[in-house]
Amino acid sequence: MRGNKPRTTHGVYPEQGRGVRVRGKKRIGILTGGGDCPGLNAAIRAVAKTALLNYGMEVVGIRDGYLGLIENRFMPLSYEDVSGILTHGGTFLGTSNKTNPFKYPSSSGKLRDVSSLVLENVELMDLDGLVCIGGDGTLIVAYKLYKKGLKVVGIPKTIDNDLMATDVTIGFDSAVITATEAIDKLHSTAQSHHRVMVIELMGRYAGWLALYAGVAGGGDIIIIPEIPYDIKKVCKIVTERYKKGKRFSIVVISEGARPKGGSMVVKRIVKDSAEPVRLGGIGNKIANDIEKATGLESRVTVLGHLQRGGSPSPFDRVIATRLGSFACELVAKQGFGKMAAVKGRDVKAVDLKEAVKHIRRVNPKHPIIQSALAVGTSFGV
Ligand code: F6P
Repeated sequence: MRGNKPRTTHGVYPEQGRGVRVRGKKRIGILTGGGDCPGLNAAIRAVAKTALLNYGMEVVGIRDGYLGLIENRFMPLSYEDVSGILTHGGTFLGTSNKTNPFKYPSSSGKLRDVSSLVLENVELMDLDGLVCIGGDGTLIVAYKLYKKGLKVVGIPKTIDNDLMATDVTIGFDSAVITATEAIDKLHSTAQSHHRVMVIELMGRYAGWLALYAGVAGGGDIIIIPEIPYDIKKVCKIVTERYKKGKRFSIVVISEGARPKGGSMVVKRIVKDSAEPVRLGGIGNKIANDIEKATGLESRVTVLGHLQRGGSPSPFDRVIATRLGSFACELVAKQGFGKMAAVKGRDVKAVDLKEAVKHIRRVNPKHPIIQSALAVGTSFGV
C-alpha cells in the first residue's frame, strides 16, 4: 500500500494522508459517528490513553465519523491531545449522522456504495483496528464493514438508550439529567399560571428518555412511542386534576409518540442519512388538542438538542472510561466484530451482530412503568 496515493471521492483534503507508523508499533483508530452526546470525549480519551499507556500503540482519530474514512481525513492523537477532555461535551473528532458509506451521494446526487474505498483508506491509514463509537446507525454500518473485512470494535452511545445487548448507552444518563432539570423548572411556572405544560423530549422509537426523566421529574402524564396515547384519557386526567385543586399538569412526551390509530409527526426527511426520519411536532399537537378539548391553557417546550449538549454526568464519565478501555483491550486481543457492553455491574464483549439486530424499546410492562402507575402517573391510556 505504501507509495499509493490515498483515494477520495471529492479530491484532496488538508488533513488526508497515509499512515506512517513507527516500526513494530500497533496503530488503533477511533471514530465517533451519528448524533453526538455527552461522554464521547470521555470514551475517546479512554480508548486512546489505554492504547498509549498500556499497549504502546499509536492512536489516530478519524474526523467527522464515516465521512473521515471516505475522505481519508484523520489526525494522530498524542497523550496531550486526549488529556483534559474528560468533562467536555460533544466530540472533538467531529461526527456526522448523515454519512453512510453504503449509501453515499455522488456529485449527481445518486447514492452509491463506497465501502470499498473506506476499506482502502483504512489500509492506507495503516490501522490494526478501529473503534467505532456510535448508536444503531453507526454500528449497523460498522457491522457491515466488519463483514467486508474491517477490524472493528464498537462502543454504544446514544441519548435514546435504544441499543440491544447493552444495559445502557453513553450519553443517556446526562440527557436524563438535562431533561429532568427542565421538567423541574417547568413545575414552578406551570403552578403559577395554572397551565398544562407539555415538554417534548427526544427519543425516536424508544421512550427511555421520557420514561426516566418523566418519572424523575414527577410528570403527571408520560407518553412514549411504545404506548400510543388516548387523547380523551389525557384530557380527562388534566381536567380531574384541576377539579381536585391541582390546577396544573405536566405532560412529558417523546418526539416519537403517536395517538392511538394515528402516526408519528415527521418534521423532515434527511434523504442521504442512514436514519433519514427527523421527528418533532407531537408536543404542539397534543398541547393544542388538550387546550381545545379542556379549555385549559397549554404551553409547549421542545427541549431539542439541549439534551445532547453539556458536560457528561459522573455516571457517563465512568461508563465511557470503562467501555473505552475495554474496547481498546478487545482491539489488542483481536476481538473484532464485538461491542463493549454494560451488563449489570460488568463490562463485557457482545457480538456486534446482536447489538444491531433491532432497537431496544420500552416494554409497556417494564417495572419502572409499574412503579410509576402505582404512584398515580398516567401513560395516557
Ligand atoms: O438518535 C439520537 C437523536 O438525538 C434522536 O433522539 C433524535 O431524533 C435525532 O438524534 C436528532 O437528529 P439530528 O441531530 O439530525 O436532528
